[in-house]
Amino acid sequence: MSLSSKVTKMQQPTHSPAVLLEATHVRKMYGDEKRTKHGEIQGVLVLDDVSLQIREGEFVAILGPSGSGKSTLLRILSGLIHPTAGTVRYRDALVMGPDPHLAIVFQTFALFPWLTVLENVELGLEAQDLTRTQRTKRALAAIDTIGLDGFEDAYPKELSGGMRQRVGFARALVVEPELLFMDEPFSALDVLTAENLRTELLRLWREGRIPTKAILMVTHNIEEAVQMADRLVVMGHDPGCIRAILNGVPLADRLAKTPAHEHLVDLVYTIITQPDEDAGTIMAAQDGRKEQPVGPTATPKPSGRGYQSLPHIKIGAVNGLAERVQRHDGREDLAVLGRELQMELDDILPLVEAVELLGFGEAMEGDLILTDAGRRLAEGDELQDKEIFREQVLSNVELIRQMKEALDRAEDHEIQEDQILEQLEEYFSPDEARRQFETAVDWARYAELFAYDGASGLLYLEDAAPTSTQ
Ligand SMILES: Nc1ncnc2c1ncn2[C@@H]1O[C@H](COP(=O)(O)OP(=O)(O)OP(=O)(O)O)[C@@H](O)[C@H]1O
Ligand SMILES: [Mg+2]
Repeated sequence: MSLSSKVTKMQQPTHSPAVLLEATHVRKMYGDEKRTKHGEIQGVLVLDDVSLQIREGEFVAILGPSGSGKSTLLRILSGLIHPTAGTVRYRDALVMGPDPHLAIVFQTFALFPWLTVLENVELGLEAQDLTRTQRTKRALAAIDTIGLDGFEDAYPKELSGGMRQRVGFARALVVEPELLFMDEPFSALDVLTAENLRTELLRLWREGRIPTKAILMVTHNIEEAVQMADRLVVMGHDPGCIRAILNGVPLADRLAKTPAHEHLVDLVYTIITQPDEDAGTIMAAQDGRKEQPVGPTATPKPSGRGYQSLPHIKIGAVNGLAERVQRHDGREDLAVLGRELQMELDDILPLVEAVELLGFGEAMEGDLILTDAGRRLAEGDELQDKEIFREQVLSNVELIRQMKEALDRAEDHEIQEDQILEQLEEYFSPDEARRQFETAVDWARYAELFAYDGASGLLYLEDAAPTSTQ
């Protein structure tokens, strides 16, 4: 699909409203900056050189793969944590800590179970110098606005997920923040509840019924971002950076699935599923025009880990996806896939990554295209699938190949998991090393390459012939 030039033209802003918040060259490192024995820096660089402006009247959505630092960026912008380098300014003043003008809504509601709805909302006003009566009055007004009238005295456990998130919104809005930050606010809700709350929030915002001047939302849902945002910020990882900033579609194209809407969804899918491609080049190729990006597009950097990272995906899902794409002649639009399977970015990206890493398919122009091996996998029976999978794993997955080789060499064809974990921990955090190990074992077991005993932590070749007979 190509991006209609009409869309981008209609989106060019005619004037620039005031900048409310500005991040300049923000960098964030977690952990110590000490060096490993290989001379690499041990701390994890989570955000690298992120610069972003939020202007009055804007709804900005941040999208990106899991771990690209979206939540970290939101926390830095709202003053909850400090950047390692770079600055954040809110109306020209440096943001040094939590600011009453900046409020956050979290994915997990973060309510106090022992407080009523009213008390939870009043908490938002704790830092402000108000009398008890004033506080209650403002909390009641926020509760009313957000549609919780009548539930003031209820406790969180008596409420549905959607109602609890309304409390989350009321608590953020009660401070009348100029800037509202939302970190995946709808992702813990079922589809219909999310839709309902999303529509209501948009109505309050567009009708000016909340005093908020700009909204910044992190989401994994591309459709949601296109439906809501005036601008879309696409992030990439290793380390987290801004890959592209795109204009949203005109309001009239937001709710209906117009071509402009579909094109933008498609473009975002294309950029995100091609992490090694320069976003500007992708846009130019899709659009045939160079001026589409309205913000910086970073040239992707090679992975900082220097080690292949396995997406944590079950084989059944890879198989299922291949079968599904094969039914569409081996090529399917990722946006359509995401929509029909109701999968958000954090589900679909690792899956596409696994399919690509195993050589079963390739993401191109927002579509997933099966390779020969992918087609064979989709059409094979259980036994053939295992055989194809084994071939692909051995030729594409470094870690599993190394484990298999180590087992082939080892006396008794056994090795202790620690040996592998130790090696992985040079590149990953201990938790992630464990997950990498588990995924590798899961795939290798399916491929019947080797076996693993969880209780003893022993990896072994199941039907290894005794060394002497080899
Ligand atoms: N307090 C912390 N200490 C160390 N590392 C952290 C900390 N918080 C986050 N990280 C790491 O920083 C990276 C970015 O995390 P962050 O939560 O910002 O990503 P995200 O884009 O919001 O991911 P998701 O989509 O899964 O929510 C991840 O690799 C994460 O493991
Ligand atoms: Mg997050």
